[in-house]
Amino acid sequence: MASEDFSSSIAKDIPTQLIGRQVLYYPRTTSTNEAAKRLARRGAAEGTVVVADEQTRGRGRQGRSWVASPRSSILASIVLHPAVAQLPQLGMAASLAIMQAIKVITGLESSIKWPNDVLLNGKKVSGILVEGEVTGDRVDFAIVGIGINVNLDVSTLPEIAAIATSLSQETARVVSRLAVWRSLLQEFEELYLSLRWGQSLREEWQAHLETLGRWVQVMGKATLEEGLAEDVDEQGRLLLRKADGTLLVLSEGDVSVV
Ligand code: BTN
Repeated sequence: MASEDFSSSIAKDIPTQLIGRQVLYYPRTTSTNEAAKRLARRGAAEGTVVVADEQTRGRGRQGRSWVASPRSSILASIVLHPAVAQLPQLGMAASLAIMQAIKVITGLESSIKWPNDVLLNGKKVSGILVEGEVTGDRVDFAIVGIGINVNLDVSTLPEIAAIATSLSQETARVVSRLAVWRSLLQEFEELYLSLRWGQSLREEWQAHLETLGRWVQVMGKATLEEGLAEDVDEQGRLLLRKADGTLLVLSEGDVSVV
């Protein structure tokens, strides 16, 4: 976006204490999650954030890639040091923070498709990839990778044109990446700190899940299950009631309503 100097402002006037206390910006990198992992292994402090204007090997869930044209999106990864018990709720914190940032900056109401896709009008505007390294019962680090389509023209990307959208597409105007970025840091910090203080995010997250109460198919890497999306548990797993009455507890997958 020519009118906004995102890269030079990205580390300035950070509105948070912890998240973003160190910001590393790359004009282009393979994947911010990979860069953040390398930093974390070398002892990067909690709250370090890697941001890029372009990824050459952006990664999504279930081994997929994440596509975005240069300077169109927020592509960021946050290094965290949570307790093991907090790990399953990091994705909840991220999706709720993204929803809230979208609301604050654009006024738009989004929803969450299990596990943590953020949708606007039924199309994906944001995805989250949480990765971690755990030794015994200790989390060495966790990386929360966030992609938000801000000014992405999805029609130029045939692989996602039918299923994705962007903030500019939904508002019919250019949206400030800087404003979304700052709001995201603020919202995520608040939610992450409440997690650290022992609060559960499940209830709030569940309230925004558009998946619940519907008959769905859940596609895993090598599985396909069908049933009623009955509930989610404290770990964010989906409780799927099959037609024969059995209850499946699923941690991963792609949901579609049938
Ligand atoms: C998904 O919905 O499949 C998750 C997408 C996560 C994409 C973000 S973009 C920033 C970070 N770096 C990556 O390589 N992936 C995440």
